Amino acid sequence: MTSADAVEDHYSGRGLVERIFAALAEKGHDPASLTPDILAPYDEFHVGGMAATHRFAGRLALDPQTHLLDVGCGAGGPARAVAAMIGCRVTGIDLTADFITAGAELTARCGLGDLVTLQRGSALEMPFEDASFPRAMMLHVGMNIADKKGLLAEVARVLAPGGRFGIYDMMQVADGAVGFPMPWARSADVSAVARPDDYIAAGEAAGMRLVVKHDETEAAEGFFTHVLATKPPTEPGRAPDPFRNLAAHIEAGILAATELFFQKDG
Ligand SMILES: C[S@@+](CC[C@H](N)C(=O)[O-])C[C@H]1O[C@@H](n2cnc3c(N)ncnc32)[C@H](O)[C@@H]1O
Repeated sequence: MTSADAVEDHYSGRGLVERIFAALAEKGHDPASLTPDILAPYDEFHVGGMAATHRFAGRLALDPQTHLLDVGCGAGGPARAVAAMIGCRVTGIDLTADFITAGAELTARCGLGDLVTLQRGSALEMPFEDASFPRAMMLHVGMNIADKKGLLAEVARVLAPGGRFGIYDMMQVADGAVGFPMPWARSADVSAVARPDDYIAAGEAAGMRLVVKHDETEAAEGFFTHVLATKPPTEPGRAPDPFRNLAAHIEAGILAATELFFQKDG
């Protein structure tokens, strides 16, 4: 079982903006004038980074008139990337207060304050009216939320009839124990990895049908080659680096980077 406090504790960390600015300064960027492209190595908290966000958003049929909901928006990297790519409004909601504070600052520095709004709240109880959004997305969040039925029902509630919801999560695709730490959880009590069928059943129970499913493991492999080149090898007797551990589970065929796209009944 995952508790909201334990999840927020896992992700919390003050000084995120300062750390990003220090890294950018080393690369010669002016923190006063940023873009989602410049920020991408630091504010996209999912496998594949900005390339994965662009691929995923391209499958959501967005246009500049769309108002998109980003469930579990983190520090707003994907929300800013999509707003800049499409020119549409994006509202993000996330449990972790530090991410929302950092995200507001980064959004302002990108000059995207008119399009992107981030607010704190739970995906299981969102402060939005019924049928508020024609599109919703969720990237690498379901692994922290055990109540998939409640999650999909809440997204379906705020989605307009005929609206679409895209999920990009790490999902369990074969039997086998999941070992920790993972990037989303230091231990099993904060993790709620599920199978695609669990999401699909929860979506159907909420009045959403699966339109298409993609296994993005191949794209994830390129990402890991790049990320793991910066990580030292695991020493014997030590816990593995979370990304190295995740890569090993993907290579073993236990976990897969999976996209699911749902459509709400019209
Ligand atoms: C791995 S990060 C992904 C963030 C963002 N989607 C991205 O790709 O950059 C997972 C995020 O899910 C958020 N989260 C987990 N459980 C949540 C919940 N019940 N309600 C809202 N946000 C949640 C965490 O606070 C964290 O920001």
